[in-house]
Amino acid sequence: MSEAYRRAWQASIDDPEAFWGQAARAIDWIVPPTRAYDAAQGWFAGGTLNTCHNAIDRHVAAGRGEVTALVYDSPVTGTVRAFSYAQLLEEVGRVAAMLGALGVTKGDRVVLYMPMVPETVFAMLACARLGAIHSVVFGGFAAHELAKRIDDATPRLVLTASCGIEGKRTIAYKPLVDEALAIARHQVDRVVVLQREQLAAELTGPRDLDWAQLRYVTSDDPAPECAEVGASDPLYILYTSGTTGVPKGVVRDNGGHAVALAWTMANIYGIGAGDPFWAASDVGWVVGHSYIVYAPLLVGATTVLFEGKPVGTPDPGTFWRVIDRHKVKAFFTAPTAIRAIRKEDPDAKFLAEIGTGDLKVIFLAGERADPGTIDWLEAKSGLPVIDHWWQTELGWPAIATCYALGDLRRKGGSAGFPVPGYQFVMLGDDGKPVPDGESGSVAIKAPLPPGAFRTLWNNPAGYEKNFTGFPGYYETGDAGHFDADGFLNIMGRTDDIINVAGHRLSTGQMEQIVAQQDGVAECAVIGADDALKGMIPIAFVVPRAGAENDATLAGRVIAAVRSELGAVAALKTAYIVPQLPKTRSGKILRNLLRKIMADDEVETPPTIEDATVPDRIRDIVAMTPAV
Ligand code: COA
Ligand code: AMP
Repeated sequence: MSEAYRRAWQASIDDPEAFWGQAARAIDWIVPPTRAYDAAQGWFAGGTLNTCHNAIDRHVAAGRGEVTALVYDSPVTGTVRAFSYAQLLEEVGRVAAMLGALGVTKGDRVVLYMPMVPETVFAMLACARLGAIHSVVFGGFAAHELAKRIDDATPRLVLTASCGIEGKRTIAYKPLVDEALAIARHQVDRVVVLQREQLAAELTGPRDLDWAQLRYVTSDDPAPECAEVGASDPLYILYTSGTTGVPKGVVRDNGGHAVALAWTMANIYGIGAGDPFWAASDVGWVVGHSYIVYAPLLVGATTVLFEGKPVGTPDPGTFWRVIDRHKVKAFFTAPTAIRAIRKEDPDAKFLAEIGTGDLKVIFLAGERADPGTIDWLEAKSGLPVIDHWWQTELGWPAIATCYALGDLRRKGGSAGFPVPGYQFVMLGDDGKPVPDGESGSVAIKAPLPPGAFRTLWNNPAGYEKNFTGFPGYYETGDAGHFDADGFLNIMGRTDDIINVAGHRLSTGQMEQIVAQQDGVAECAVIGADDALKGMIPIAFVVPRAGAENDATLAGRVIAAVRSELGAVAALKTAYIVPQLPKTRSGKILRNLLRKIMADDEVETPPTIEDATVPDRIRDIVAMTPAV
């Protein structure tokens, strides 16, 4: 173990006030906080700051305006564009002026439904500049999901683009926004549309404004100054899948977030001012918020915004090309992306030809990293590959090998060790810690460190629920264990959440959609292991009497999930079965369905209602052609 890691972790637990007080010095405060933690008000209470100032203005003021802040690399449009900190300041100022002209002020919400283009980053930072609260919705979600988020966040504006580019396909975004607003109860003042040359959007009425035109009209407006916000004022709301299918609006504060993210760059990723860093995620996810946008800019580094896929844009060498071209020093992606590359280039010929340039280390997160993928990547790249674990709720890694503190310990199947600030316990059903080696509910001692959520938007009771299962602890929803060497292994979820290609989804939500379709009597959706995406959803549908021979049923169910939840759900298989396996008390045996899909030995539980059901389902699965 590295001594620096041991000391940092111990200090963060023994004296969090001193530890985070020291870390807060990396941030420019308008009014410095008088203390680090206050149980009622949270982290850095009393302090005021502006996150945009910390991410841009202060670097320019320090004479680093010519350093590259943002590189947009888009193989799907054939574009590479760099923005220095001075240029980023100018661009963000222009968008802030546009938003200001539309009446956006401190505390207003702005929903972004945008692809991976620089304007998305400008808009997020422009909101931060004004003290407005952005809520970015991932482009793979359908209109219904967007509408739910609009109704919950009640934004003044929606910012969107005419299209996103998914590999070789162009996906029109504006019709989805129109549909969402037709469904939503809440109506926005304006929809601002960034027209992309790949596909123009129709502006349908006075509500719709053209981004470029608005920018032109407001071009003489002075760029708004950075608003002074309280440390605990919200910077953004990011919706994530909850267990009930109702999205949880995770609220991120300004102060704790800035302090924690800056700390991670220096102590986990080993990135400082001027260093190129790349997180190959999407700004619609928490990884994109934290590690494409805020963290690298807070420390004055160079961040890469990549619009493409690991494969097919144009080939499985695209990641290595971007890393080499921009001299990326630390790289972060999801295991599924590496599996996709490995599938197409098993001998890593592209990697061997292109190389990894200045790259020192690779981080993986978003889903469990299978040891085979890590071993392959380490062998082919010759670099340390570090799995680490976190959640939207936390905002930054909670389990990791703190590489920048000199730690390099890693073990296949483990996400590493508790990161400073986090005290983990594996709890049994009785709420007592289980011995090392035994699986329990992964819990974190409260209070959570800076940057972690302190409430859910419009749902404080939903937030509290995370702390009631095991009083005094935050229940992560994951199951796992410590091994004898102190490595923490995350084994899966204790609820209905699944991770599909690193995207967090609720099978319960899919079940709700499937259950509403014509001809469906009942259903179950489970997550099955998948060699590429980690997990994929599979639906089991029992038809209503009379619908047994409806050949359209499976297709309709799949189409409904796609149109209501979104393409990202990736539900491609629905089995029509005569019955679901249930206990005599009526509980669906989802675990048994999972075992059937994995082709595992199924031990029929004694409580099963009808012991013939598992074999009948197994036969149906075996006879149905794979999609
Ligand atoms: N806008 C619109 N549609 C989107 C989208 C977006 N931003 N992102 C994904 N989709 C669509 C895809 O086009 C696909 O549609 P299809 O069913 O019509 O083909 C569907 O949603 C599923 O997408 P995805 O799960 O990404 O599958 P894929 O086959 O397109 O790509 C991978 C597979 C592994 C290459 C890809 O999932 C990947 O790169 N994953 C990494 C994920 C990641 O970075 N997660 C963040 C956590 S760190
Ligand atoms: P999200 O909020 O979308 O980041 O998803 C968080 C969930 O993804 C966690 O609760 C885990 O179930 C899973 N997850 C994220 N990173 C890892 C990892 N490194 N290993 C195992 N599971 C992970």
